[in-house]
Amino acid sequence: MPTRPYVIDEMISAKTIAARVEALSKDIHDAFSDTDKLVVVGLLRGSFVFIADLVREIDLPIEVDFIEASSYGDSTESSREVRILKDLRGAIHHRDVLVVEDIVDTGYTLKHVVGLLKARRPARLKTIALLDKPSRREVDIQADWTGFEIPDEFVVGYGIDFAQRNRNLPYIGKVRFSDEEQGT
Ligand code: PRP
Repeated sequence: MPTRPYVIDEMISAKTIAARVEALSKDIHDAFSDTDKLVVVGLLRGSFVFIADLVREIDLPIEVDFIEASSYGDSTESSREVRILKDLRGAIHHRDVLVVEDIVDTGYTLKHVVGLLKARRPARLKTIALLDKPSRREVDIQADWTGFEIPDEFVVGYGIDFAQRNRNLPYIGKVRFSDEEQGT
């Protein structure tokens, strides 16, 4: 549970996100229209809203699977040690794979998961992230598609949490700590 009082200012509206997801889904459709072996892999938990909206816009015969990784826990600081808490249900050998991430920050999570899945020798592996904070990157990784590049702000909503809260907001919001403003 968050220990400091905070407010959330809207940063990217639900309407803007929906328009971007629709455009991204067209790119995904074009990139994978030659295959009937596409597995869309959601990186839990943060991607659950994004993947749900994205797959419903993709008119291809896809499968959906999930992998759960965590490097933050309830903390706001990355441990830089990525733990796999839940692996894929299905095999991806010789399959086409699209990994769906909510946000790339330091990059440790996506890099670790991509390495893990590539070792299983999929036919193709591509990545998509709704948000990217390039100024925070600590390892060399870039998603093949990105929804929005954002500055180094603490964001929540549309699947992304603050100490496990606020994942259910329909928009992306920026966290502002009210005690900082009062100088306490
Ligand atoms: C968050 C977020 C990304 C990752 C990005 O996951 O959902 O997966 O951190 O950070 P990084 O680029 O610095 O690795 P978290 O570990 O908080 O788990 P969650 O998805 O369950 O919220």
